[in-house]
Amino acid sequence: MTRRILVLHGPNLNLLGRRDPEIYGRATLAEIDARLHAVAAELGAELQTFQSNAEGALVDRVQAAMDGGVDGLLINPAAYTHTSVALRDALEAAGLPAVEVHLSNPDAREEFRRTSLTAAVVRARVAGFGPASYELGLRGLWTILETES
Ligand code: DQA
Repeated sequence: MTRRILVLHGPNLNLLGRRDPEIYGRATLAEIDARLHAVAAELGAELQTFQSNAEGALVDRVQAAMDGGVDGLLINPAAYTHTSVALRDALEAAGLPAVEVHLSNPDAREEFRRTSLTAAVVRARVAGFGPASYELGLRGLWTILETES
């Protein structure tokens, strides 16, 4: 059974590769997406990826996933992790299994990064492994989908 997974990247992640490489590493978003597509092919999943700097665009994409045949969400909400009630509410309303990922370990950084508004509405969180957080998160989401079908 082919499972459809939507990967959402929040604000400033389009700058990966040149944004604070000592924190986020040198991999570009295109390289991360390519790796995720390779893992998805191995698993037999169909992957869509979407990045936006705009909170409303991310909310719209989550809402579209509700009726769009998406089975699960892999999301790095980036700064919206710490601020967005709207994105949190959209994830809750969608009711789809979601896994939150972060390249860095936000808990080991500034105080304001220790709050995640999205944490309570996702099934699991992966942080601190650099680009590998995405792959680990995708494999974890896959395990959730397989276990629950
Ligand atoms: C991030 C961590 C967030 O605190 C930050 O705002 C980001 C990236 C990460 O992947 O480590 O933009 O989500």
